[in-house]
Amino acid sequence: MTKYITPSIAYVGVDDLDKPLFENQYPIPDGMSYNSYAIIDRDIAVTDTVEAGKFGLWAEAVEEATGRREPRYLIVHHMEPDHSACIAEALRRWPSTTVVASAKAIDMLGHFFPEFDFAGRTHAVGEGDTLSLGEHSLTFHSAPMVHWPEVMVSYDAKEQVLFSADAFGKFGALQRERGEWTAEARRYYYNIVGKYGPQVQALLRKLDGPVIRLIAPLHGPVLGPDFSRELKLYDMWSRYVPEADAVLVAYASIYGGTRRAALRLAEMLHERGVEATAIDLTQTDMSEAVSEAFRHSALAVAAPTYDAGIYPVMHDFLHHLAIKGFRSRAAAVVENGSWAPIAGKLMTEMLSGCRDISIVAPTVTVRSRLDATSEQALAATADALAEAVKKK
Ligand code: FEO
Repeated sequence: MTKYITPSIAYVGVDDLDKPLFENQYPIPDGMSYNSYAIIDRDIAVTDTVEAGKFGLWAEAVEEATGRREPRYLIVHHMEPDHSACIAEALRRWPSTTVVASAKAIDMLGHFFPEFDFAGRTHAVGEGDTLSLGEHSLTFHSAPMVHWPEVMVSYDAKEQVLFSADAFGKFGALQRERGEWTAEARRYYYNIVGKYGPQVQALLRKLDGPVIRLIAPLHGPVLGPDFSRELKLYDMWSRYVPEADAVLVAYASIYGGTRRAALRLAEMLHERGVEATAIDLTQTDMSEAVSEAFRHSALAVAAPTYDAGIYPVMHDFLHHLAIKGFRSRAAAVVENGSWAPIAGKLMTEMLSGCRDISIVAPTVTVRSRLDATSEQALAATADALAEAVKKK
């Protein structure tokens, strides 16, 4: 049975419980939703499509919602295949449907569907352009790099709905929704859109004007009418403002010596009245670790030297942070090395490559196991981290 988000806008998206990984890299234990909406008016507009393999379910949902009237428009907000994979199939099924998209998206159509002739089947729109469907009128706003360059969002003045593309999306199938938005939206945000904070800020500024009653993203639940909390979080995330004045102690250990040092550091922070979370990178999903690093105001990393470099899982973690735009945090480094410790220098270099990272204490060197000297250095690091966190 068709579900409606407003009296004249139907939800026609599809849940995916088959895939273990989104983008073939992020675990989705609760699945994923590919959202699509049908605006029922004199002219019907359908927004976006769904992942490959889900065409049948989606087309059925569209046709049920529209009473088998052919959509006049297929609005393409974003060309990433989780939303665009079924465009050619849709145009074959509905021969009078026109794709409405940004010029950049229309350029990309040919790359993704080289076998399909789009001549006469597309209509390019740009910033501020409008499209009347009858009673509904859509206004388009470009949102480059949220999350690809061709992205746009659209606003329906009649129902005051913002179709927000990937913005305000989250991991998780709608049938698995438990009403807890923040954790999986945060993990989605920092891993997928996190690098593009300034572009998200530019989009938020554009949305200051119109009255928005509902936000209809491409993933996850529709938000509203009160989405002030989610909006506030998006504003913080896109300005790289931490949510917790606390330290994340991220560690990777081979035989337990580094683990012991990391846990002792967390304990020392607690003794100083500072909240600290210790995570074992060898046991934590990378996307979760990245999300937690952004959530905390300070980061301590602890890892052994390995093959004259950084123990690989820690190297991977720091690489992920760098490419996701990690910045504006206090940091400290703990290394372990039984004969030629070098991980500390290399971890410091990787952290220093991120913007506005202040390393608050000299690297603590552990030689295999904590001893009185390294314990003392750890205490000095705990002091420095505690001061940095309390100052924020
Ligand atoms: Fe949900 Fe960037 O695609």
